[in-house]
Amino acid sequence: MTTPDRVIVPLDVPTREQAIELLDLLPEVTFWKVGLELFVSTGADILGILNERGKKIFLDLKFHDIPNTVAGACRAASRYNVDLLTLHATAGRSALAAAKAAVSIAPSPPKLLAITVLTSLSARELAFDLKIPLELPEYALEMALLSQESGIDGAVCSPREVRELRRVCGDDFLLVCPGVRPDWAVKGDQSRTLTPSEAIAAGADYLVIGRPITGADNPREAWARICQELAAV
Ligand code: C5P
Repeated sequence: MTTPDRVIVPLDVPTREQAIELLDLLPEVTFWKVGLELFVSTGADILGILNERGKKIFLDLKFHDIPNTVAGACRAASRYNVDLLTLHATAGRSALAAAKAAVSIAPSPPKLLAITVLTSLSARELAFDLKIPLELPEYALEMALLSQESGIDGAVCSPREVRELRRVCGDDFLLVCPGVRPDWAVKGDQSRTLTPSEAIAAGADYLVIGRPITGADNPREAWARICQELAAV
């Protein structure tokens, strides 16, 4: 995998027009993430635009439903030449396996990534609201293992979990890390970040980096600087 393909930039904008503006602003970016807001706003239209431009797609819709519905959604997504697709590990073993079976028959199946625990959840919410008795890191690891056992290709994880997940899940399990910040960028609302080089060295396959690039005074320069730093790892 070449360096630029390892950095995924989120199209975190609300409209089709703003998405196109961002695509035009950063022609060197090869891999884009489409999340719930843009997808709900544009529908599959945005996937067609990315396909036409020859871009790779990370469709981050975090499916969580009964096995039949999750499988149908994954099957539909795989018609759009999507490379990475997310679903919640807590949908359960049957839904995870059904999702894998559904995409396997596609001509170019997307890799499925599990969401283990939403990083917005605090330890307190996990224990008191969701009644989950495990500590947060242990629970995230259990959800990654459940996903791996069910045939899921990888997981989205925070930089602080990546080393342990790589150790436990082995080299073939894809690990995708948001919450990455170059040391020259503002951290914003991301806490306990790693730099791009540190996250790759810790075992990440892909990095999702948004605002340090899209919010920079010169986004193309920020992108080039990150790629340069990663090429040296
Ligand atoms: O701008 P920033 O680099 O923080 O963007 C990170 C992207 O990754 C956003 O699209 C955000 O929703 C997503 N994400 C995250 N933390 C997670 C999971 C996803 O920041 N735990």
